[in-house]
Amino acid sequence: MTIGIIGSGAMGAGIAQVVAVAGHEVFLLDQSATALERATAGIATSLRKLAEKGKMTADAATAAIARLRPTTNMQDFAGCGLVLEAIVEELTVKQQLFRQVEGVVTADCILASNTSSLSIASIAAACQRPERFIGIHFFNPAPIMQLVEVIPAVQTREGLAEEVRDLVQSWGKLPVLTKDTPGFIVNRVARPFYGEAIRLLEEGVADIATIDWAMTELGGFRMGPFALMDFIGHDVNYRVTESVFAAFFYDPRFKPSFTQKRLFEAGYYGRKSGRGFYNYAAEATPPEPNRDEALGRQILGRILAMLINEAVDALALNVASKEDLELAMAKGVNYPKGLLAWADELGLPQVLGTLDALYDEYHEDRYRASALLRRMVRANQTFFTHEPVVGNHQP
Ligand SMILES: NC(=O)c1ccc[n+]([C@@H]2O[C@H](COP(=O)([O-])OP(=O)(O)OC[C@H]3O[C@@H](n4cnc5c(N)ncnc54)[C@H](O)[C@@H]3O)[C@@H](O)[C@H]2O)c1
Repeated sequence: MTIGIIGSGAMGAGIAQVVAVAGHEVFLLDQSATALERATAGIATSLRKLAEKGKMTADAATAAIARLRPTTNMQDFAGCGLVLEAIVEELTVKQQLFRQVEGVVTADCILASNTSSLSIASIAAACQRPERFIGIHFFNPAPIMQLVEVIPAVQTREGLAEEVRDLVQSWGKLPVLTKDTPGFIVNRVARPFYGEAIRLLEEGVADIATIDWAMTELGGFRMGPFALMDFIGHDVNYRVTESVFAAFFYDPRFKPSFTQKRLFEAGYYGRKSGRGFYNYAAEATPPEPNRDEALGRQILGRILAMLINEAVDALALNVASKEDLELAMAKGVNYPKGLLAWADELGLPQVLGTLDALYDEYHEDRYRASALLRRMVRANQTFFTHEPVVGNHQP
């Protein structure tokens, strides 16, 4: 199958590399010839590096580079079986683009968007044949991150999600199926990792270094929330938070913080601007955490309970299957464990107890426990069946 990718920025270039390596002819289109040149050179460099490191043969790298056709002419998409866009995140621009694409491609060509924050239904609505439209959401950097969220819209024809899932799997990726709801799986379930960490900071429970220490050292997360937000950039992370909040009809659970908004407004974007929560100047001394284990456990317990609650609620609302929720958080954001398995390990009553104690204290909807969690505690259930622990006690 020949594939068309539109937009040769960070995501489009990465996705083009993935599908070219998987053996597809790829037309990579951008309105900017400069962006296209940069992307083509970048893909070639990255494939050669992979070959030098022995991750692929030099012949395979050369063949993948040869399968890549940069273009500024949409007529080249005429023979494509799939066209996926990764252009600017603006609904009207994406809708306009697909109207143009439909004028070129055949009736059975699959159309897809890599959007992070728009609904798939709203983009599909601009198409003459919305039943062939679907979301295929990669993570950055696309060649490295294994997770891909596959999102059928309300208009998508039956069976297409499964076909696309198989196709994505054939690219060596791990696809998960998710409903067309704000943030899909990862950008929805991960919100409290940032939001609750900032809340703890704002309340003065602990400083950034201590919260990051608790989450990495005690929780096993690869990066603490503040280091991670600085890495993602507050321009990106704040905007996602704001758009998920608005898209959820202002559910208080997803409320953004003034702390992050001010960093965003000040242009303190994080690593890329030299300053965010942390100061990245060469002469700056990184702050030291308070390694108080009791405080660390309190921080971890609160953030984790909020994350688990979000995952449970996504399950309760059939956003995705248990297995896909677990896979998404382990592979999309590298969490040390799936959140539902983690809940089982902690014990559901403990997680519910943490949430209920927060709710009792604050009386904010933010801390309301998912009805599913409460129901499961009442029925003494767990998310997964666990092998009975074989004790070594003597009869
Ligand atoms: N960056 C991420 O971490 C990330 C992750 C997942 C999904 N996304 C989504 O992927 C999409 C692209 O994001 P990005 O970070 O790669 O953006 P980017 O700004 O790096 O690249 C966008 C590219 O699209 C081109 N472009 C813009 N409008 C165009 C048009 N009408 N026709 C042709 N080309 C056009 C631009 O010239 C640019 O090269 C967005 O929808 C974004 O929400 C981004």
